[in-house]
Amino acid sequence: MSYVLLTGGAGYIGSHTALALLNANEQVISFDNYHNSSSESLKRVQQLSGRSLIDIQGDVLDSQALAQVFEQYPIKAVIHFAALKAVGESTAKPLWYYENNVTGTINLCKVMSQYGVKKLVFSSSATVYGAAEQMPIHESAPRSATNPYGQSKLMIEHILADLHSSDPDWKIAVLRYFNPVGADASGMIGENPNGIPNNLMPFITQVAVGKRDKLQVFGSDYPTADGTGVRDFIHVSDLARGHLAALGYLQQVQGIDYINLGTGQGYSVLDVIHSFSKVNQLDIPYVLTDRRPGDIAQCYADPSKAAQVLKWTTEKTLEDMVRDSWNWQKNNPNGYN
Ligand code: NAD
Ligand code: WQD
Repeated sequence: MSYVLLTGGAGYIGSHTALALLNANEQVISFDNYHNSSSESLKRVQQLSGRSLIDIQGDVLDSQALAQVFEQYPIKAVIHFAALKAVGESTAKPLWYYENNVTGTINLCKVMSQYGVKKLVFSSSATVYGAAEQMPIHESAPRSATNPYGQSKLMIEHILADLHSSDPDWKIAVLRYFNPVGADASGMIGENPNGIPNNLMPFITQVAVGKRDKLQVFGSDYPTADGTGVRDFIHVSDLARGHLAALGYLQQVQGIDYINLGTGQGYSVLDVIHSFSKVNQLDIPYVLTDRRPGDIAQCYADPSKAAQVLKWTTEKTLEDMVRDSWNWQKNNPNGYN
């Protein structure tokens, strides 16, 4: 029996991926310091799947704690989710972000090397494309970053490329996620942001549940069809399946590969609000305000490489995303708390 180790496995994307892995009969270990999560998500994952996983509280900055996991369990591959991810906070606390995300990844790769485990799936982000000039965005587009969070992802991409060059035994899938939203259709697990949400969908669901008065739509003068920002929203359950496909792909990948996980379809902020209102029969009060500094007009993926190499495409629609986001929020008005 061998295990798939998920760092950050209790988080939003990690918990949905843990569920997909358990449902596919994989053995799962989560290693998470619960900085932005709690073990409640994993309790629910086990309830939903009817299978158990190994839930370890630990920090990827703690090499000894990581080594202990590799010492104790046979691990066949690692999916590395653990990271800090709030763009604004990264600008205020850059050293913390670089240490947690970059040093954390270096620690992890050192321990993996030490134990001869050289199969890695890494959570990168469309943020590494900066303000891309061409849509849809292909994996070969130029990379840049505009904030410390994005820089940390870009640095890790470079580090992983160098690691593979130094030792071709490494097999690495770098997955660049676009905008993950939604929740498992059960409504039992979902996104659980601390404080005021930065991202669009959790803000909308908190307005819907009465925690916030209204949504601010940041910018209505972008060069897009309705003037609001356009993004490639991807259902988190589709994203979770993408990780399963990436694990399979690690068996055959030649070295390191970079793959977009998106739908290929851009929707505007107003499209999302209107879809949310229509599907859930709820009014979302909103005001049009100034652009949010650092935002880009549009960002959507060319998902053809994922279809080709992972044999994976998205299945869920925008309607599924808004319905499942609301189902999670209304069943859990205070998240996991
Ligand atoms: P999340 O915050 O819900 O999950 C990350 C998990 O990592 C949390 O449970 C947190 O407690 C844990 N963690 C953080 N630092 C740790 C450390 N030092 N040691 C151990 N655990 C640690 O975020 P998410 O949305 O699930 O994101 C998962 C990954 O996907 C991250 O790497 C993120 O940068 C990346 N990503 C997320 C998005 C998004 O919009 N959600 C988009 C693109 C990429
Ligand atoms: C989407 C659209 C906003 C909130 C961020 C990170 C990115 C990646 C995904 C990790 C934009 C608008 C939002 C609100 C609004 N994360 N909006 N009112 O900015 O595309 O991407 O999350 O890798 O790195 O930057 O996502 O959900 O914040 O915004 O009008 O209250 O919604 O202006 O057009 P973003 P988002």
